[in-house]
Amino acid sequence: MNIKRVIMLGDVVGEFGLAALERQLPRMITEYKADFVTVNGENAADGFGMSEATLNRMFAAGADVVTSGNHVWEKREFWTVLRNEKRVLRPANYPAGVEGRGWIIIEKNNVSYLVINLQGRKMMTPIDCPFGTFDAIFNADASSCVALGGAHSNEQSAPVVLVDFHAETTHEKEALAFYLDGRAAVIAGTHTHVQTADNRILPKGSAYITDLGMTGVTDSVIGMDAKICVERAKKHIPYHMECAQGTASVQGIVVEINIETGKAVKIDLVNQ
Ligand SMILES: [Fe+2]
Repeated sequence: MNIKRVIMLGDVVGEFGLAALERQLPRMITEYKADFVTVNGENAADGFGMSEATLNRMFAAGADVVTSGNHVWEKREFWTVLRNEKRVLRPANYPAGVEGRGWIIIEKNNVSYLVINLQGRKMMTPIDCPFGTFDAIFNADASSCVALGGAHSNEQSAPVVLVDFHAETTHEKEALAFYLDGRAAVIAGTHTHVQTADNRILPKGSAYITDLGMTGVTDSVIGMDAKICVERAKKHIPYHMECAQGTASVQGIVVEINIETGKAVKIDLVNQ
């Protein structure tokens, strides 16, 4: 069995999250013997969206692909980066014509990885269908991989498929996971910033977790300053939220994948 290890990390929130990523990820890649890393960076720039500088810091820390979600649009100047840098993704199920791209095939050390970023529609913006969007990408790219330059090894019949599903509700996340079971190696939820303990292998071989958690300050409200969040919730006034400061953890998963089958054999939590 030819096993590759993939680390997928939850939303990086602000400077403290970025600093934790820079401190921990290089060591984690060595410790877990990781072959490929995805990081959700949608809150890296002061909690809202990304900048070119924060994106480059995530790549320098070890991310092969940076995924995102609904906050990726916050910094208008970042739209140019979305257009030009293929290794940063926005959810693929935004309507046609939207800046950026939602999936990419990367070949690394003779193995091809297809990373797909999707966004939920329950309690979120009603964009295009994430189920149908996955089908369209998967059906097109499993066969066109070689043409795109993903010359995977002889032991690999198709790219390893990694999905970041940025969604609010557990119901929608689990439903998509069962729909993709057996086609994706990993379906990892993001967006709630709270790591769930339901990491498991689904019946047809996909690794799944409802939410990776976040890379941000532990004593916070989803990475933001708790005092401000309490006032917002209590008074129903939209005080400007600021990132929390303090000790930050890096949360996500490490998954072992058999590249001969494209299926996962093990999924463990990362929380350091
Ligand atoms: Fe987020």
